[in-house]
Amino acid sequence: METIILSADNPHNIEICAESIASGDLVAIPTETVYGLAANACDASAVSKIFQTKGRQPDNPLIVHIAEPAQVERFVSDIPETFKTLSEKFWPGPLTLIMKSNGSIPDNVTAGLTTVAIRMPNHPATLALIHKSNCPIAAPSANLSGSPSPTRAIHVKHDLDGKIPYILDGGDCHVGLESTVLDISEYPPRILRPGGVTHDELTVLLGTVAIENDSTSAIDKPRSPGMKYRHYAPKAPMFALAGAPDATACYIKSQIDTDPRAAALMFDDYAIDHTHVVTFGAHHDLCVQAANLFDALRQLDALSPSQIFAQMPPATGLGYAITNRIKKASGNHIIEC
Ligand code: TXA
Ligand code: MG
Repeated sequence: METIILSADNPHNIEICAESIASGDLVAIPTETVYGLAANACDASAVSKIFQTKGRQPDNPLIVHIAEPAQVERFVSDIPETFKTLSEKFWPGPLTLIMKSNGSIPDNVTAGLTTVAIRMPNHPATLALIHKSNCPIAAPSANLSGSPSPTRAIHVKHDLDGKIPYILDGGDCHVGLESTVLDISEYPPRILRPGGVTHDELTVLLGTVAIENDSTSAIDKPRSPGMKYRHYAPKAPMFALAGAPDATACYIKSQIDTDPRAAALMFDDYAIDHTHVVTFGAHHDLCVQAANLFDALRQLDALSPSQIFAQMPPATGLGYAITNRIKKASGNHIIEC
């Protein structure tokens, strides 16, 4: 199968993709967080193609994407009071809400759980696509399982070329990290995956908000099944460096001096001048780091290095989600500098 990249600027292309989804095929779609691999969420056999195409474990449930907050009523049995507050403030946007399922979404979307994950993405082309296809859209990130999530159409092409008919190119994803997954099916609400909406923003609105431990160590029954898998990972072994940026930069310099095939992910303002160094934003510019992180990991992969060392921002605000992804990419190999 030839994979065609279609520009989302052309409304006719959105129609082509909507028809493809309505007829049971997969399409890669742009969102503000990362590209998604979309199928009709009500069509179990279309959804099963997502798992085959990505090589995704069937116990890892998918997010259902909708185009209007009111559409949750079709899929949720018990809409908590917090839903209205959260959807008014953050939708469309990078927040996925876990609520009790009413059973109308197929089991392979929810991985047989009694809850369903729902989000209204903030990209005009994808909202138009959901309206046009007239179905809710199940979509994980459009990468091969385990590799960094795609933030550009070309990343999707790299991973899924020949496996899907269309990639709807809506430009670079401006958030660059996946949505925050928040479980509001129980009290207190709990962040299962940190992302574009921060703990502070949620706390201001809701009061107490718990955070699931983000360690990747073997957890038998994590509340968010996806969090137990090694993710976002370049092929070479990667090490996340904890410590002040001048200390981690100094450590990287010593490593690159002794191993010429080593590579590093560094802040613009602490980077050393070396062909194997990829920068992802200034130390204090968390939004830029988030937007560049996955592309930077792919660039590092393309260098075929022996090993990769990564600087991490302070784990506050959006920095918490950035460090979560870097730690996961390193398989939780953390070096204190
Ligand atoms: O920003 C995003 O969330 C992107 C875009 C495409 O919307 N999607 C995305 O999907 O990152 P995915 O499949 O890569 O990650 C979904 C996460 C997984 O960790 C999964 O385990 C969790 O959400 N999840 C889905 N349904 C759940 C449920 N019912 N209970 C707990 N966790 C759930
Ligand atoms: Mg993913």
